[in-house]
Amino acid sequence: MAGRIPQHFIDELLSRIDIVDIVDAYVPLKKAGKNHSACCPFHDEKTPSFTVSQQKQFYHCFGCGANGTAISFLMEYLHMGFIEAIEDLASRAGMEIPREALQASQSNNITTELYELMELVTQFYCKQLRQHSEATKAVDYLKNRGISGEIAAEYELGFAPSGWDNLMKELGRSDDSSKRLASIGAVIEKDQGGYYDRFRERITFPIRDQRGRAIGLGGRVLGDDKPKYLNSPETPIFHKGRELYGLYQARKVLKDVDCLFVVEGYMDVIALAQFGIKNAVASLGTAATPEHMDKMFRMTNKVVFCFDGDEAGKKAAWRGLENSLPLLKDDKQVYFMFLPDGEDPDTFVRGKGKEAFLANEMQIPLSEFLFSTLCQGIELNTPEGQASMAKVTLPFISKLVSAPALTSILLRKLSGVSKVPNEELALQLKQYKQTGTANIPAPKRRAIINRSTGQQSLLTEAMKLLLRKPDLALEASLNEKLSEINIRGIEFLNEIVNYIQSNPNATIAGITENYRDREKIRKRLIELAPSETQYAADDNFSDDSIRDSFFDALTKLKQVTDQSKLRQFANINSTGELTEEMKNEFRSLVSSRKKTGDETTET
Ligand code: UTP
Ligand code: MN
Repeated sequence: MAGRIPQHFIDELLSRIDIVDIVDAYVPLKKAGKNHSACCPFHDEKTPSFTVSQQKQFYHCFGCGANGTAISFLMEYLHMGFIEAIEDLASRAGMEIPREALQASQSNNITTELYELMELVTQFYCKQLRQHSEATKAVDYLKNRGISGEIAAEYELGFAPSGWDNLMKELGRSDDSSKRLASIGAVIEKDQGGYYDRFRERITFPIRDQRGRAIGLGGRVLGDDKPKYLNSPETPIFHKGRELYGLYQARKVLKDVDCLFVVEGYMDVIALAQFGIKNAVASLGTAATPEHMDKMFRMTNKVVFCFDGDEAGKKAAWRGLENSLPLLKDDKQVYFMFLPDGEDPDTFVRGKGKEAFLANEMQIPLSEFLFSTLCQGIELNTPEGQASMAKVTLPFISKLVSAPALTSILLRKLSGVSKVPNEELALQLKQYKQTGTANIPAPKRRAIINRSTGQQSLLTEAMKLLLRKPDLALEASLNEKLSEINIRGIEFLNEIVNYIQSNPNATIAGITENYRDREKIRKRLIELAPSETQYAADDNFSDDSIRDSFFDALTKLKQVTDQSKLRQFANINSTGELTEEMKNEFRSLVSSRKKTGDETTET
């Protein structure tokens, strides 16, 4: 949707408003030096770690990592949609949103209608549980399963009576409304025309998103029929891979508890809630996805996967592990809990009680689950077994891209079981990250690793300088200089330069907003954005010195490119296959290398 509002408009908008005013209206800010700060509105804290930078037009919380622009603030804090946030800011700035954008906002209104309709469907089924003539069997079923009236009400359990058109008669009276019911998955279109209710003779479990909007339904049969559960299909407002059942209720208690439990079923969430464990959610019949993990880690630092003790449970746990590795941070942890075979959280908590479920011994840290699973079938007391343990484990450790402390703990642990020295493992890990294989003899590859980190830090330096002074992108000689550089990662610099060239007034906040849909780039830009101290220093710095350092970095990057070309040419030359053109380039590279004195180190 972001694409439909022209980027130049967003840039202009962000440069006209001031994030400090916007945030201050909802979260009163205190001025301290260049920063404005407050207790973070996105997590519970006693001392302020939430700061708003006027210069960057960013907010950032050092406690929970929340960060973004004025647009993100309205989206996160006031739960506005993207378009809504833009509309809000535009009206503050007295600007009119260009027409192409309004179409997007119309489609936004249609989505709003779908949420409202889903709410009506939810309420309809709740009412049937209280009023329908067949409701006694549903109520009896729930009572039999030990569900209290209070919990049934809190989780808004409902009843879809038998019959093909209960819902259709109530909410699908016109062709238009039937179509909309079909688009949220509540009814199904018949081949021969007409529609019928999707949920029949089932207990219904409304699914709400974290803001509380009704988005879908689950339905369980009252007996042993198949399928046991039916879920809403994917619809414009319901995406299984993103939503978690029970998150809306869990969110309300998260300030008082330190973790979220992820269980498999609707009934598990309900039973745990009834026993006072309201911080449980269920992934809806799928393994936890990276999007699920990301969502949960925004709300808590600890996620505990709780699975049945059977094979299926182990498999689901393993998938959860794989999806969480890339998202782990040193302060974001994952634990696993395996219940005795044949039990699920529902039967367990009813049989053994709350304390037993919450007991610390139940929880295994991710590292332990990782090692105990990977070492299965490996003879750890033989050298071959030890080497193979190192080999199978490194790929998993390599996925921990943002947890340096955990990485080194795991390496040490791996060193303990594999008997491969810690430093050797660390080196192999780097190699694995670069080349995708771990078994290359160490000495030969060392130079490459270092050369590459040298390049990468030069590139980072250049990016940082550009963000400090975006109009560097407008320097006349820049494109030619960039075209001479050919190293990994240069595309990113090129892309940002192009962006600034076509949006010459872009601010850092504007550039970042442009990448709203590309989370990785957006995060990287925020990381690279200059700090307040750099801004303060820039006041005393001459623009020229930033410019000089920038072009200096580019010159060095060009030398790195030249050197690798030289090496290539030298290799080809030794087989005598250089074309005339290559020879010329080779000669000029050699002579320019003599002139510049070849400052770039290669070790
Ligand atoms: P379970 O069969 O473990 O569910 O499936 P449960 O909650 O323990 O069921 P009860 O206790 O017999 O009522 C776990 C989850 O897998 C999905 C549902 O989301 C369910 O909660 N599932 C299961 C389906 O989507 N369809 C099915 O037919 C079965
Ligand atoms: Mn169950």
